[in-house]
Amino acid sequence: MSADQHAAQAFHGRSVVSAADFTKAEVLALLEAARQFDRFDPGGPAWGGLAPTLSGRVLGTLFFEPSTRTRLSFESAMLRLGGSVLGFADARISSLSKGESLVDTIQVVEGYCDAIVLRHPSEGAARLAAETARIPVINGGDGSNQHPTQTFLDLYTIREAAGRLDGLKVGFMGDLRYGRTVHSLTEALLHFDVELKFIGPENLRLPRDLRDHLRRHGRSGLEVENLQDAGDLDVLYMTRIQKERFPDPMDYERIRNAYRVDRAALAPFGPDLKVLHPLPRVNEVAPDVDSLPGALYFRQTRNGVTVRMALLHLLLGGALPLEGGA
Ligand code: CP
Repeated sequence: MSADQHAAQAFHGRSVVSAADFTKAEVLALLEAARQFDRFDPGGPAWGGLAPTLSGRVLGTLFFEPSTRTRLSFESAMLRLGGSVLGFADARISSLSKGESLVDTIQVVEGYCDAIVLRHPSEGAARLAAETARIPVINGGDGSNQHPTQTFLDLYTIREAAGRLDGLKVGFMGDLRYGRTVHSLTEALLHFDVELKFIGPENLRLPRDLRDHLRRHGRSGLEVENLQDAGDLDVLYMTRIQKERFPDPMDYERIRNAYRVDRAALAPFGPDLKVLHPLPRVNEVAPDVDSLPGALYFRQTRNGVTVRMALLHLLLGGALPLEGGA
């Protein structure tokens, strides 16, 4: 049995709460599974001839915050694997609006499906749900804390474009305090030989616990306020300023236009710079960046389906290599 096959087994029946819960071998096994799914033709029936490995299985999607990519790509992934989906995209139409607790909701919904994707505004909600449920709970974003499946697709996209994960200089720019995708990806990158750089205003720096965590690993990284002070970069990971997380709206207004890149701002980094963004964007990446060969944010959204197919396949008992794959 290969290292990937062995690590893939560790996904069976498991919840996905934090990127930090996964070993390097497990992350690499998931990326390998996604690579194998990528070999099938998405234009063909049932993902280009891939056996519907999750036929008869049901995914519950419980979204207590807005989402386009996470919810729809999970739904697409499950449907393409032959499974079904139930859930809600707006908590106001669930019995939460009548005062039902998250714990009760999870205990009910686990009777209706085989795995749950949960997005919730409260940090720790996914951990609580995972501890409650007897089926896998996948964190689709919990407040400003974590967004592990975004991290898996980010890693997949970086490796696909750069050909490697080791030896890269990765800059994160924008809302480092509230951006959960930054927190997840930073933790996962600790598995790799990557130079970390953080670009943002003083009041939107990484949370203290994450900074302490990086320091304990000897990987504090460079912290600067302006992009031109970041030095060389292979990857620039942009984030939206998370308006909805600011306790004082005036703080958001003061910062909202300060962290924006366009082609001219990126030119000094050369043509090989990879620009990622979890999306949605507001104004932080100008439309003239979209046509650069290194603009990968729409590639990320497409990879989201493949990576989530791989994750669902492994969580619900699938193995590597895929039938007809590799
Ligand atoms: N990247 C991401 O989480 O997008 P959504 O909020 O649309 O799901």
